[in-house]
Amino acid sequence: MTEPGICWEPEIPSTNSALKERMAALPHGYTLAAVSQTAGRGQRGNRWEAAPGRNLTFSMLLRPDGIRPAEQFYISEAVALGVADVLAPLLPAGQEIKVKWPNDIYVDDRKICGILIENTLAGVDRIAASVAGIGININQEEFHSDAPNPVSLRQITGRNYPLEPLLRDVACRILRNLEEA
Ligand code: BTN
Repeated sequence: MTEPGICWEPEIPSTNSALKERMAALPHGYTLAAVSQTAGRGQRGNRWEAAPGRNLTFSMLLRPDGIRPAEQFYISEAVALGVADVLAPLLPAGQEIKVKWPNDIYVDDRKICGILIENTLAGVDRIAASVAGIGININQEEFHSDAPNPVSLRQITGRNYPLEPLLRDVACRILRNLEEA
């Protein structure tokens, strides 16, 4: 099984943008995480709010074998289920993880994770590489942007979580899901 190579940097504007600039020589599974992301990008040109040092903001370089642009849902599925499978067991009884396909993960009606996947094509019918950017709200105590209904794991459970083991777990699951796709 591919093990993710994880690189943490103290501060980056956007891990997606940085990984896209650096990806030429990097392998499948390479993961770039930021302690602080100063210009995090969301879907539809929105900003992604994440308090420094409190959440997971990271991007994974995926080089899936033989996935065509029309099949890119397999990548979204591997990513979203990887996140959901790690978060689900941490929730109190009665609270449920829901994937709002393809790119949002909710606990009940509150958004805990957003995903921004950017593909690079080889010719017209092959995805050469995907940069899967993932923001998971872990220890943030309050949100200030106008994002609809954000929530963190800490707001749900009242506990703080160490970020590095959670990141390793999510990244490993995503790679395993892709191998099985
Ligand atoms: C959304 O709008 O729901 C998608 C949010 C994606 C945020 C993540 S945080 C890590 C990565 N780097 C970015 O600039 N954006 C993604």
